[in-house]
Amino acid sequence: MEIKIVENTKEVLCDVLVVNKFEGKETSNSLVNKYAPEDFTGKAGQIFVMHTQKEFPSTYILALGLGDESCMDNNIIRENVAKAIKKCVELKAKTVAFDFSTDYGFCMPLVMGVNIANYHFDKYKNKKAHRIAEIYLSNVVPEAVNVASIISDAMKLSRNLANEPAAFSTPSKLAEIAQGFEGIETIVYEEDKIRELGMTAYLAVAQGSVQPPKFIHMKYVPENPKKRIAIIGKGLCFDSGGLDIKPAASMLNMKDDMSGAACVLGIMKALPKLHPDVEVHGIIAACENMPSGSSYKPGDILTAKNGKTIEVDNTDAEGRLTLADALCYACELQVDEVVDIATLTGACMVALGSAASGIMGNNDDFVKNIIEVGAYAGEKFWQLPMWQEYRDNMNSDVADMKNTGTRYGGASAAGMFLKEFVTDNVKWAHFDIAGTAFLDKPQKEFCKGATGAGVRTLLDYIICQ
Ligand code: BES
Ligand code: MN
Ligand code: ZN
Repeated sequence: MEIKIVENTKEVLCDVLVVNKFEGKETSNSLVNKYAPEDFTGKAGQIFVMHTQKEFPSTYILALGLGDESCMDNNIIRENVAKAIKKCVELKAKTVAFDFSTDYGFCMPLVMGVNIANYHFDKYKNKKAHRIAEIYLSNVVPEAVNVASIISDAMKLSRNLANEPAAFSTPSKLAEIAQGFEGIETIVYEEDKIRELGMTAYLAVAQGSVQPPKFIHMKYVPENPKKRIAIIGKGLCFDSGGLDIKPAASMLNMKDDMSGAACVLGIMKALPKLHPDVEVHGIIAACENMPSGSSYKPGDILTAKNGKTIEVDNTDAEGRLTLADALCYACELQVDEVVDIATLTGACMVALGSAASGIMGNNDDFVKNIIEVGAYAGEKFWQLPMWQEYRDNMNSDVADMKNTGTRYGGASAAGMFLKEFVTDNVKWAHFDIAGTAFLDKPQKEFCKGATGAGVRTLLDYIICQ
C-alpha cells in the first residue's frame, strides 16, 4: 500500500473520503452534516457511509465516530481507523483519503490502523484478498508517517513469518532472512559451534529433528549508543511436543511457536531505518521440537551454558531450554537490558486469553516501564508474579532443577525457570505471548492468525530511549 501526502485530501479523486466525527460536534464535511441521520452521534466506532452522487470528488464519504474529543488517544484512533478500512474493503475501495480534523497527533495511529487492517496472509490462495492500494493524507508530520510505515513493515514481516507453514519458516530460513538485512551484522552458529559455546540444553531440543539448528545473532550498532539491549525470540519453528507429544488439537497451530523469533526479525529489519542511538542484539536459538529416534528424552539431564543442570521432566517444556542458553549468551554480551519474547506457556493463554501478554522480570521499574510503552503502542501486558513457591516446585532429585513444576501457575513457573539463566547485573523482562501471538478469530484491528505481538512495544521502547 502506498501513502501519499497531499495539500488537501478533500480534493482528491478517490473511492472513499474518511472524515472523523466527534460526539456533539459537526464534522468538517457539509454533506455528512446535512445527510447523516440523527442517531449518528459520533460514538466511537459508529460509521455512516453515503454515496456523493458526484457532489464531491470522492465516490463515497465515510464518517467515522471517534467518541468524545477530550478522550482521544492512540488506541481509539488506531482501532476505529481499522474499522473504517474494513468498511472500505466491503465497498471494494482501492483508494482512500482521510480528512481528519483533531488536535490530537493522529497520523501514527492512523497509519498503523490502516496497515494492520489491510494485512491478509493470502500468499497460498489463488483468490487474493481485496486490499486498499493507496491512502491519501494531509496535515500530517511526514516523519511520523515514515516511522509508522517502518513499524508497520516490521509487523508485516513478523506476521508473515509466523503465518507461514513450518515447512517454509525453518531454522535455516530464519537464518537466511537475518543474513539479508541491510545495516545489520549477522552471525549464524551451526551445531558444532553451538556445542563449543556450551549451549547443550538448546541442542538437546533440536536433536530430534532433521532440520539443523541455527543460532542467530544479529547486531545493530550505532555510533554512540546510549544503551545496549538484547532481545531474544523463542524460535521453535515447530513444536510437536517431542516424545511427550501434543494431542492433535494442541499441535495444530504450533508453526507459530517461532512468533518470538519473528518479532525479533521484524525489529532488527526496522532498526537501521529508524536509526535509534541504542545498540540492539537480536538473538534466536532456532530449532524444531520433534519426536524421533534421536530425540531427547524425559529423564535426560542437560547442562546449560552457565553450568546449571536440568532434568527433563517433559519434552514439551522445550522453549525454556532453548531460552536458557540464549539468555546465558545474551548476559555474556554485557548488555544493560535483556528482553525475551516467547510463546512459552499454555498456562499464560489460560490466564490472560488473547487480550494481553504476560510479563515478568527481575526489575520492577523496568517491567512497569515496558507495560506503559505497550499501553501507548496498543499492546497490553499483565505482570505475573515471580514467587519462590513456583521455583520450589521445580526442585529435582538428580539435577539443579526440572524443566517443569506442577500443573498450576505454569506461566510464573516458566518465568522462574528462565531467571536461573539471567545474571543479576542485567535488567531482564520476559514476555509470554502464547495467547497474543496468534488469533483463532479476528480481534480488534487484526484478522485471524499471526499478530506480530511485541513488535510495536519493543520498537517504541527502543526509539524512546
Ligand atoms: N509452545 C508451547 C506453549 C504454547 C501453548 C504456545 C499454546 C501457544 C499456544 C510450549 O512449548 C509448551 O508446550 N508448553 C507446555 C509446558 C508444559 C509441558 C509445562 C504447556 O504450556 O502445556
Ligand atoms: Mn512445547
Ligand atoms: Zn513451544
